[in-house]
Amino acid sequence: HATLQALAPMAPVHCFPVIGSTNQHLLDRVNELRSGESCLAECQTAGRGRRGKPWISPFGCQLILSMYWRLEQGMAAAMGLSLAVGVAVVEALESLGYQGVELKWPNDLYYQGRKLAGILVEMSGSAGASCHLVIGIGLNLAMPAREGEKIDQAWAELRHINPELVDRNQLAARMIVHLQQALHTFEQQGLASFVDDWNRLDHFAGRPVRLLMGDQEIRGIARGIDDRGALRLETGEGVKFYLGGELSLRRG
Ligand code: BTN
Repeated sequence: HATLQALAPMAPVHCFPVIGSTNQHLLDRVNELRSGESCLAECQTAGRGRRGKPWISPFGCQLILSMYWRLEQGMAAAMGLSLAVGVAVVEALESLGYQGVELKWPNDLYYQGRKLAGILVEMSGSAGASCHLVIGIGLNLAMPAREGEKIDQAWAELRHINPELVDRNQLAARMIVHLQQALHTFEQQGLASFVDDWNRLDHFAGRPVRLLMGDQEIRGIARGIDDRGALRLETGEGVKFYLGGELSLRRG
């Protein structure tokens, strides 16, 4: 990763046993950070998920990682970035021998139909033409059964894929390098170079789905994403395209 070392030479990693939210930690410091700097914690007391939901992260049970990136082209260029991050996270796992991990639009990681990890991208204002981004990942390693009461959907864990868990420091390091590389590529080339891989990893490809938009529900067959990262849905009225935000996809 020679390019990367030139790009983010030994970007600092902020490590905490307990923290409110690793995303918030970086968001509070955007003006002091450089791209590729990250934050790791064993436990979050106020972890955040997508669509305003809390993210339950008990001590030592997940990889809890956030990374700061200053996107030089500004906010509009960030569209689709979370999809590129999804590909990078799956590829980091594949590089460690974890196979069979898939993506669910817009940016959940799935294993055998259950959620393995979530990604939350947050923005904080702009810095001249550029904007500050914080990318957060919560990846289940081995969750205690009692947490089930608090989590609203079936989940998967890395130990389901391989009971001999990889060393967590190695996992974190691999994830950081893959993320830095992907964010650098995204900044240079946009989403285009990630689309084929995203579609290769698509959990719902060719399957009937329901797209939830507030009170509205749209049914169709999932046909992957286009170059903008929009979901391509084959409906009774032809093919329609949907861009991320507050949307959620379910099995049809
Ligand atoms: C989702 O709802 O699927 C996204 C979950 C993202 C959770 C991660 S854990 C690290 C980072 N810090 C947070 O507060 N949230 C993200």
